[in-house]
Amino acid sequence: MELVRRSWIDDVYERRLLPAGRAAQRADGDDVEASAVVAACESIGDAVRTEIARLEPAIDRAGLSASLSPAGDGGDQIHAMVAEVADFDEASRLASMLGAESYRPWQRWSGGALESFRRSTDTITVARTDQRTDVLNITWPSASKLDRIPSVVRPNEADWSFVSLPRPLWWLYFLIRPLRLIGERTGLVQPAPGHLGPFLATPSSLIDPLLDFAAVTADDVVVDLGCGDGRLVVEAARRRGCRARGVETDAELVESARAAASTAGLAGLVAIEHGDAAGVSLDDVTVVFVFLPADVAAELLPTIVGRLSPGARVIAHEQHRLPVSIDPEHSAVLVSDDAVTVAHRWIA
Ligand SMILES: C[S@@+](CC[C@H](N)C(=O)[O-])C[C@H]1O[C@@H](n2cnc3c(N)ncnc32)[C@H](O)[C@@H]1O
Repeated sequence: MELVRRSWIDDVYERRLLPAGRAAQRADGDDVEASAVVAACESIGDAVRTEIARLEPAIDRAGLSASLSPAGDGGDQIHAMVAEVADFDEASRLASMLGAESYRPWQRWSGGALESFRRSTDTITVARTDQRTDVLNITWPSASKLDRIPSVVRPNEADWSFVSLPRPLWWLYFLIRPLRLIGERTGLVQPAPGHLGPFLATPSSLIDPLLDFAAVTADDVVVDLGCGDGRLVVEAARRRGCRARGVETDAELVESARAAASTAGLAGLVAIEHGDAAGVSLDDVTVVFVFLPADVAAELLPTIVGRLSPGARVIAHEQHRLPVSIDPEHSAVLVSDDAVTVAHRWIA
């Protein structure tokens, strides 16, 4: 369902959707939009508390001590939780124990890269995806002084992916960083595909509202940049009969997306490319979906809109405010039974 009232958008961004929905309901018991908002948020809150109740005994049985709670910034809007632990080692043990509960880590470093990561952060994120994605941030009080070093100097994911160093040489990533950047600027080093963000699936219940928002028909050619498990492109082809293409860097997700397309009998309509979304051809494309971290999406969007043929639509959705330089033609909150997002549309 697309909500008409624009004030809901700020309510999502300011993480006050549930109280805003309840206030609107108190003011007008027949307010259909308020009822939809409250029902979705209550269902999300219930799902998060149920997931915590499911995980806590498993964590106890593993002899780990972690205190779990709904994520402070919007536990009633997003399927997100926080686990507080004593230190990085306990966080690592918890992250690997949660593998048995189908949670996968967003950060998959080893050796020196893992050590460099450990010294520059206080959070490990693990997530489990089915119809929606449950995200768990495992945090600890950081004893590291590295977070005081300016972020331009601190090694990051691109440096850890660039070369694999043994654990005792973790500090060399401080040298790798400027060398890699100089190499890339002078053309001596080929930049690796940029990591546009981790796998966080569009909740299945929001796919139809998003296809409506984009007005996708059988005449469209749809692309999802960073298609994850392919749910959006497979459903676009299944529900609207259009051709659809997904682009994804993660080989495991490419496999799942291709398997989903062929299981649905849609291999003729759906193509999944293994590669960097930044370089994908948009020549025949009429609809582009973007579900990436807000800052990443904001940087990509002007280029994507500029590369499309007139009339093509770009749809981005997120629960965080998009700091975009080009104004969308239309924005609205989309609500399903158990999920919420803010969708934006640009027309080339
Ligand atoms: C937030 S998820 C969105 C998944 C999917 N679009 C959806 O809505 O369910 C972002 C996806 O982008 C992928 N990704 C990250 N960097 C990429 C790149 N440079 N090229 C293609 N895909 C990338 C990630 O592996 C992840 O699956």
